[in-house]
Order: sequence, then C-alpha cells, then structure tokens
Amino acid sequence: SVPEHLPEEHADADLVSALPSAPRPNKGLLNLRFYEGIWLPEYFVPAAVALHRRFEPRRDDVIVASFPKCGTTWVNALTFATMARHAYPAAGAGHPLLRLNPHQCIPFLEGLFRSPRGEAKLEALPSPRLMNTHMPLAMVPRAAAPGGGGCKVVYVCREPKDMVVSRWHFHRRLHPELAFADVFESVCSGTVGYGPVWDHILGYWSASTARPDSVLFLRYEELLRDPAEHVRKLARFVGLPFSGIEEDSGVVHDIVKLCSFGHLKNLEANKTGHLNPALPIPRDALFRKGVAGDWVNHMTPDMARRLDEIVADKLHAAGLTF
Ligand code: A3P
Repeated sequence: SVPEHLPEEHADADLVSALPSAPRPNKGLLNLRFYEGIWLPEYFVPAAVALHRRFEPRRDDVIVASFPKCGTTWVNALTFATMARHAYPAAGAGHPLLRLNPHQCIPFLEGLFRSPRGEAKLEALPSPRLMNTHMPLAMVPRAAAPGGGGCKVVYVCREPKDMVVSRWHFHRRLHPELAFADVFESVCSGTVGYGPVWDHILGYWSASTARPDSVLFLRYEELLRDPAEHVRKLARFVGLPFSGIEEDSGVVHDIVKLCSFGHLKNLEANKTGHLNPALPIPRDALFRKGVAGDWVNHMTPDMARRLDEIVADKLHAAGLTF
C-alpha cells in the first residue's frame, strides 16, 4: 500500500514507478503495474489508491462493476434505463441512450478519481448515484461492506474464453498487429488489466453469496438467454420493482428493446466517435458481435482446455463454474 509518510500529491509518481510492471504483448498497449495483488493499467494506479482510501458510498448508490469485455456497456445501459425510467421512459423519443453512448450516461469511478475535480464532481451528484467501475471489489471495499453502510453493486461476469476473444478484437482496433496468442497468454498468466480475471470474479462472487442484498451477480450468457427476467431482477435489486401497471404496459420490454445489441449498435452515438482520449478506440468497437461461444472460432481445443482448467482450478473451491 502507499507509504503513509509521503504526501499524496508527490506520492503518485514515486508509488507508480516503485511497483512491479508487466511485460507488454504490444508496445502500444497500456502499461500494467502490480498494486495490492492486481495488475492495473498504470494510468489508473493513483486513482485506485484514491478510490481505496476515500470512496464513501451512499446507501442508495448503485455501482455497475465488471471485468472489461464482459458486458459492461449492456449492463450500464440496462441499469441506467431501469433506474431512470420515471424521468426517461424507455420508449420515449428523448431518451439519453438514443443520443449518448451508455458509458457517457454513467460516471466511471476510476476516471473521476484521477483528479480532485472528478472526485468533487462525483460528490456533487444527486442521489441515487449510478456509477461504473472495472476495479476489483478489494479496491472499493466500502461499496458492499458487511454490516450495512455500503451500497449496491451489480456485477456482470462472462465466460472467460469469450472475454479473451472480445478483448483481442477490441484492442486490435488500435493495434491491428496484436496477436491473439499474446492476449490469450496474458489472460492465462493473470497479467492483464484489472486481472487476474479469476480474482476479480471471486471477489464479487464471494460478496454476492455472503451479502446477496448488496451484490447482484449476473452472467452475460444468462442475460442473453432471458434479458427481461434479468431486468426485473435488476429492478427489484435496486429497490425499484416494476408495478403491475408497468408490467401491463410493456415497460420491461421497452427497456430490453432500447438496450438490445441490434438497437444500440445502430445508433449514431455508438457508430461514431471514440471512447476517450486515453483509449482512442472507435465507439463501435463496443458492439462487435454480442453472442456467447465465439471462442470456438478463435481458440484451438488445447487453448480452450488450458484456460478452462486454470479457471476451474481457481474458482472450483468457491462453487463457481462456467
Ligand atoms: P463481443 O466482442 O463478444 O461481441 P464491454 O461492454 O464490457 O466492453 O463488453 C463488450 C462485449 O459486450 C462485446 O462482446 C459486445 O459486443 C457486447 N455487447 C455490447 N453491448 C451489448 C448488448 N446491448 N447486448 C449484448 N451484448 C453486448
């Protein structure tokens, strides 16, 4: 952790440069540093320290958490549309999701914690706040704190082999020369941004089994199978269950439709522009294929078996399987 004797503003550069770094499969990819057992994009290490130390959840906050490429964009959209449905009916022509990318509708915690101004912005947001993070639960320990005092966390995980494929395609938009085998190896070794992925999943899984009222554990593949049922679950979890009138008037269906892959993918806000200056990947990269099982088109059976075994080995004791 951060040496306490260093003033925080001077500690950042020293702290980052003192942390172990990972070999990069590609020079253009973000540098990783090992902090508190997690491989973090170097760019976000000071934010992680600040988050860890200072993030004070409010009881009615909701945080959407995920490992990158596991369905963040979709769950951001669904949670936003569900929580904001009284102000913005999902079938309405003025819905923010029709003109903004889902990531623009929800503040990104580690993005805000990169600066005091961002922190102040978050503090000034009216309740209930909806936020998004890729940080492992260990970095936001007060979010789903035992004994109350925390907030609600919606976690989405995805079959790791499909996550690898999605990740490769995503980063290839910036680095066309990136080899699939290198991305695969980095995930298997754990040296991947916010990784190892199994620790990320385990942290949220354990909290969800211990405190199901605080952490909702969703799976991308199950969302694909029955999005409407998951939207109902999400609404109950955040304390905003659908009324009989809403059910009868098709509100659940409207939310599912608004946030569906085919709909979001074809909106101008998601077809043009880039994610952000730090990650100048075109926004359309967030909407590639949107299916389960695409790994069969990219991995050899040996690769698949190897990753399956690693993941099973790490998650088996917790009773979690993919
Ligand atoms: P693929 O690359 O397999 O298509 P994240 O949002 O965490 O970056 O995850 C991106 C993955 O979620 C991509 O997977 C993307 O296509 C998929 N995705 C994005 N929006 C979706 C939606 N509305 N419904 C289903 N999948 C979606």
